[in-house]
Amino acid sequence: MKGVILAGGTGSRLFPLTKITNKHLLPVYDKPMIFYPLECLVRAGIQDILIVTGGRHAGDFLKLLGNGREFGLKHINYTYQEGEGGIAEALSLAEYFAAGERICVVLGDNLIEKSIGRAVRDFEQQPSGAKILLKKVPDPERFGVPVFERDRIVRIEEKPQVPKSPYAVTGIYFYDSQVFEIIKTLEPSERGELEITDVNNWYIARGEMTWHELEGWWTDAGTFNSLLKASNLVAKTGANNP
Ligand code: DAU
Repeated sequence: MKGVILAGGTGSRLFPLTKITNKHLLPVYDKPMIFYPLECLVRAGIQDILIVTGGRHAGDFLKLLGNGREFGLKHINYTYQEGEGGIAEALSLAEYFAAGERICVVLGDNLIEKSIGRAVRDFEQQPSGAKILLKKVPDPERFGVPVFERDRIVRIEEKPQVPKSPYAVTGIYFYDSQVFEIIKTLEPSERGELEITDVNNWYIARGEMTWHELEGWWTDAGTFNSLLKASNLVAKTGANNP
């Protein structure tokens, strides 16, 4: 399985911190944010990794990460998203890299306490389709929220005013090679983006989506509050623990 980290976008919610750098290069406790999704993939045994970045500071990723020697990698692949057309648009840039293989996608501002090794192994056994990881949160309205019928997800609602479950869809996704054809059929949402939630709903509608509740803490780090929370969580327990 290959890994894709999405680290494009302008980070406008963190302005002025993001005026002179990319959001994913900001510190989370003792490391730049991008280190965490990278370590998440490497610790789960994924070695072939693409970073999708964008904006005016993309060159700094190369200066910081080079070929990934510090992470035990021989090589890192990079590509560039022009503009910020959404998570699914950023992912579409990984089609050539994926070359028909399955992928594990991690959003560049997502951090977790524990390994995703089990989810990686489970998805390798899944005949086809996709897999998402869920986490119970106090503020589901900030995220994609699954709607359940018993233990079956019937759809995901993106940032609903009235969430129908207490779960967030975390920014760690597993897809088979159909994902790139699905993205080509998407229309921009009200916020003008190609939404990853629309991709996930496609798989759900065809009965090809599995899910799994993440162990340990999970947080994004894309707002002032969640960036502070992420630093405090990492200081307390560390991230990407076995
Ligand atoms: O964190 C999990 C949430 O991430 C999910 O629950 C939501 O369903 C999903 O839509 C997403 O929500 P956000 O609105 O918080 O995503 P945001 O726009 O902050 O983007 C998250 C990361 O995705 C960002 O750190 C980099 C990458 N990204 C985003 C955009 C809009 C790109 O690479 N390119 C983009 O154009």
